[in-house]
Amino acid sequence: MEQPTNRVFSGVQPTGNLHLGNYLGAIRNFVGLQETHECIYCVVDMHAITAWQDPKELAHNTREVAAAYIAAGVDADKQVIFNQSKVSAHAELTWILNCVARIGWLNRMTQFKEKAGKNRENASVGLYDYPVLMAADILAYRATHVPVGDDQKQHLELARDIAQKFNNDFAEFGGEDFFPQPEPLIMGAATRVMSLRDGSKKMSKSDPSDMSRITLTDTADDIAKKIRKARTDPEPLPSELDGLKDRPEADNLVGIYAALADVTKEAVLQEHGGSQFSSFKPALADLANEKLSPITGEMARLMEDTTYIGSVLQKGSQRASAIAQPVVARVKEIVGFI
Ligand code: TYM
Repeated sequence: MEQPTNRVFSGVQPTGNLHLGNYLGAIRNFVGLQETHECIYCVVDMHAITAWQDPKELAHNTREVAAAYIAAGVDADKQVIFNQSKVSAHAELTWILNCVARIGWLNRMTQFKEKAGKNRENASVGLYDYPVLMAADILAYRATHVPVGDDQKQHLELARDIAQKFNNDFAEFGGEDFFPQPEPLIMGAATRVMSLRDGSKKMSKSDPSDMSRITLTDTADDIAKKIRKARTDPEPLPSELDGLKDRPEADNLVGIYAALADVTKEAVLQEHGGSQFSSFKPALADLANEKLSPITGEMARLMEDTTYIGSVLQKGSQRASAIAQPVVARVKEIVGFI
C-alpha cells in the first residue's frame, strides 16, 4: 500500500460560534495548503457530541462548518470536504487504537482536564477518548501534515505516539512503518488567538460572553463594537516586539492584525508603534471587516443552499471512504482480524 508524502488532514467541530481563532489558527491555513497538498477537511460531528448537542443545531452547525471551509476558499471540487460520521472508518479505527493507546497517556491530556473541569466523574467517556478518535481521523488517511491551532499540539503528539506504538507492536506482522508520523502545521502570527475580554484565556466557542470572540457570522457593526470594547491597557503600542511582553491583550490584538494582514507582528509594530488603542482599534476593525466580510457573506449565501452543501458532504464522504476503507482493512489484517 503506497504511503502518500503530502496528504493533509484537519477538522473543525460543528459546535457553533465559529470564531476568529478557528479561522486564523486553522481554516485560513487550509486554503493555502491546497496548492501543494492533497487535502482532506472534515467536519468532526462525532467529536462534537462528546458534549451534548441539540440535534437540530448539530445539523445546522455541520453545514455551517462546511460552508466556512468553502467560503474561506477551499475548493470543494478538488479537495475532500465531508463529515466524520458518514465514514465508518473513523469509528472502526478508533476502537483498534483504543487498544493501543495507554490510559496514562490520556490522563495527561490538558484539554480533557480543562473541559471536564471539577466534575470529571460526570464527563462523557467520549470526551475522555476524544484524542484517540482524533488520532484515528488522521491515521485512517495516513495523513502526513495536520494544520491546527496551538491548542491541538498535545493531541498531535498523542497521535504520533499511538502511530509509533502501533508500528512497534505489530512490526513483525506487517505493521512496521505502517503509519507515518503526522507533522503538525501551526502557522501564521495568530496560532493562539485570545479572548477579547481576557488576554489570559483562549478565544473559544463556549465562552459565555459573546463579546469575547469575533464570529464568522458577525456583522461589520458587531465586529467594530467588539474590537472597540476589547480589553486593553492604557499604554500606547510599542515599536518593538519586546514591548509586548507582559501585555497579553496588546499582544493579542497585534497578532490578530498581523495574521489578517498576512505580515509579521514586527511589521505591524513598525507601522503602528506609538499609536494609542483609540486609533489602532478602528484600523484593526476596518482590516477585520475587509478580510472577513467576503467570507461571512459567502457563508450566508451557501447556508441558503442546503442542497449544494449536502451534495458536497455526500460526494466528499464517498471520496474519503475510498481512501480510508483500504487503510482500515489493512489494519484489521495486521492485527489478525479475519
Ligand atoms: P476545534 O473545533 O476546537 O477547533 C478547530 C481549529 O481551530 C483551532 N483553534 C484556534 N486557533 C487559534 N486560536 C484559538 N483561540 C483557537 N481555538 C481553536 C484549533 O486548534 C483547531 O485547529 N480536536 C480538534 C478537531 C479535530 C481535528 C482532528 C483537528 C478532530 N480531529 C484531526 C485536526 C486533525 C478541535 O478541537 O477542533
